[in-house]
Amino acid sequence: MAESTPPPGAVTRPSQSPIDAPAIELRGVDKAYGTRRASREVVKGCSFCVDAGSFTVMIGPSGAGKSTLVRLVAGFEKPTRGEILVNGRPVVGPGRDRQVVFQETALFPWMTTRENVAYGPRARGEYTPETQRLGERLIERVGLGRFETKYPSQLSGGMQRRAELARAMVNRPTVMILDEPFRGLDAMTKKLMLEYYAALSRESQRTNLFVTTDVDEAIFLADRLLVMRHIPTSVRAAIDVDLPHPRKLTGLVAHDRANDLKRHVLSLLHEEAARSFAAGGNAADFVAAYRLRAASGSLSGQTLEDV
Ligand SMILES: Nc1ncnc2c1ncn2[C@@H]1O[C@H](COP(=O)(O)OP(=O)(O)OP(=O)(O)O)[C@@H](O)[C@H]1O
Ligand SMILES: [Mg+2]
Repeated sequence: MAESTPPPGAVTRPSQSPIDAPAIELRGVDKAYGTRRASREVVKGCSFCVDAGSFTVMIGPSGAGKSTLVRLVAGFEKPTRGEILVNGRPVVGPGRDRQVVFQETALFPWMTTRENVAYGPRARGEYTPETQRLGERLIERVGLGRFETKYPSQLSGGMQRRAELARAMVNRPTVMILDEPFRGLDAMTKKLMLEYYAALSRESQRTNLFVTTDVDEAIFLADRLLVMRHIPTSVRAAIDVDLPHPRKLTGLVAHDRANDLKRHVLSLLHEEAARSFAAGGNAADFVAAYRLRAASGSLSGQTLEDV
């Protein structure tokens, strides 16, 4: 059978990685900040696996410790205890096998789209004709072909996010880690970006760990959901999202199975947020948002007390 051409930026598994090793594995990870007397535990006894090639979404209350976990998996920080493995190898620092896209833009304002996308390979001294072509194809693939010579200030918010995706993917990571990458975009742009990214990621065999506080976004994207506990965080529940692909955000609204999943996830999140609230944490916004949604009927007439 003829092999199809891989899409731009598609990944090949690292040949030296142990066979069948999960793409990401956390074993009993703790993370505390501060000195012993004023120490704050943010992550406690956190263990989970992310299968290679899967789309895993981490969802949890605001302030739970999700971004802390992202920094640990990215290798920007070290755990206080426990072990983190990526493709079967212990994480000892940042690596190009993992690319992180944060909510805050990381594009250099003085560089054009093309220069921003070329930055990673250039900084490593690996800017070959092949990486240049890959960069150009990725810029086309994210729909910015006509904006190659524009600066970030000349791009809309959605375009900037797409440039960031191309800038990460040009490094051919096996794992993409996205920490609320579309937070702050207007509702329509966010919807388009979600559908766009879902299609893009299904083309490659890349592993995705995507962080959000938005349950609709989570169910739309995920093969598997990790519902996180209130700080100090760990996995409260791992839930398989057995909905067929391709999905449509609007289609999920009327989908019974999607709504069952949503109710289940929201009830878990509500319990975690309420614990945070009771402990004086910063989940008050989440509870208020939940009440608003319940009042607007978007939870099928359920009240906060029903779930
Ligand atoms: N460098 C740090 N030093 C001290 N405390 C920190 C540090 N980073 C995070 N924390 C603590 O960890 C808590 C969790 O932060 P984190 O950003 O990981 O949460 P989050 O789940 O990503 O929240 P959000 O949904 O709002 O992005 C913070 O409220 C803060 O108290
Ligand atoms: Mg965060």
